[in-house]
Amino acid sequence: LDNGLARTPPMGWMSWERFRCFTDCEAEPDNCISAKLLMQMADQMVDGGYLDAGYEYLAVDDCWMSPQRNSSDGRLMADPLRFPGGMKPVIDYIHSKGLKIGLYGDVGSKTCQGYPGNEFYIPLDAETYASWGVDMLKIDCCYASHSVEGIEVMGFFLNKTGRPFLYVCCSCANPQGTYTPGANTCNTVRSYMDVQDSWENVYQIISFYGNKTEEFIDSAGPGHWHDADMLVVGDYGLSLNQQKIQMGMWALFASPLFMSVDLRDIDNKSKKILLNKEVIAISQDPLGIQGRRMFKYPVRQGNVEGWLRPLSPAGTYAVGILNSNNFGWLQYVNKTLSDFGLTHQKGYDLTEVFTGKKYGPLKPLDELILKMEPTSLFLAVAVPLS
Ligand code: GLA
Ligand code: GLA
Repeated sequence: LDNGLARTPPMGWMSWERFRCFTDCEAEPDNCISAKLLMQMADQMVDGGYLDAGYEYLAVDDCWMSPQRNSSDGRLMADPLRFPGGMKPVIDYIHSKGLKIGLYGDVGSKTCQGYPGNEFYIPLDAETYASWGVDMLKIDCCYASHSVEGIEVMGFFLNKTGRPFLYVCCSCANPQGTYTPGANTCNTVRSYMDVQDSWENVYQIISFYGNKTEEFIDSAGPGHWHDADMLVVGDYGLSLNQQKIQMGMWALFASPLFMSVDLRDIDNKSKKILLNKEVIAISQDPLGIQGRRMFKYPVRQGNVEGWLRPLSPAGTYAVGILNSNNFGWLQYVNKTLSDFGLTHQKGYDLTEVFTGKKYGPLKPLDELILKMEPTSLFLAVAVPLS
């Protein structure tokens, strides 16, 4: 979508994967979707250095709304118990921290969790979001009969408000079989299934990107990105190596980076992964070219895959080697840069982004010999030598 936003993949925090639809604030006072949760997360994003690292959107997903619209004017309202002063003061607080705010809507009759949908109210709702100072809308299509059209109409009315909205679309903006990101309609489009907090799920998403690379790589670029879904780094399901894999692969995919984690008690090692400057630089490279899987071969209980993303300046690349085998053995990998299609005869210097370790100079046919831990990623920036 050519609205001047998302010239690089958007970064932020999103409530859904970690906080789901917890609405019972008596049972879960610290975890329910509420003004308090969003304001605490805003504090953490600033104090923890996430905003400085580039994570600027704080997005509340489904379940922020009151079950009913305002009976007098039909407007959407935040749930009055969980957002006692309404949404506006929370948004003002988030803005005062230098962050941007994202809300969630659904063009059907109800959201996926049963809250009021935008159907029949699209112009009014767009106006309401704008009047509150919303900066991003994540749009879904549960209970919608015309998903793509609904998303287009909402986009039209958001645009009409004159306020810039990052427009984050669910996979319903992506009619099945074509993996184009509705480039004219949305800033990001979900490419595949909902992320869950498990290695199995994360690797399914990675495999989808690998298997479909050629079908949708060309439709990513500044203003429009394929969204691999939220980062579950720092949650319950992934080992540290697997968290590095998710972070690194999402950077290679040029996917949006939305953390979904409790920033109030995140483990320091996970935090370091999320704040890794070198990985973020790969993600945010201004060329905006989505990475491509260059090879894949089976090993015991998994695969070794080679990934490549062109970076700026021209001739620089991010090189990823993923070992998906979780069998408890070390995996020896011998590869050359020519296996990735890199041919610069003078060779390259490589710096691995998680360890800072240097490799090289490596000519295209020199062997790179790696000893890889179970489910792990080697991710390096390769700089051509002159
Ligand atoms: C869908 C989306 C998720 C989340 C939920 C909320 O499943 O894909 O990302 O927004 O709805 O109900
Ligand atoms: C068997 C045993 C394992 C281990 C291996 C070693 O599989 O059950 O505990 O000792 O042999 O080869």
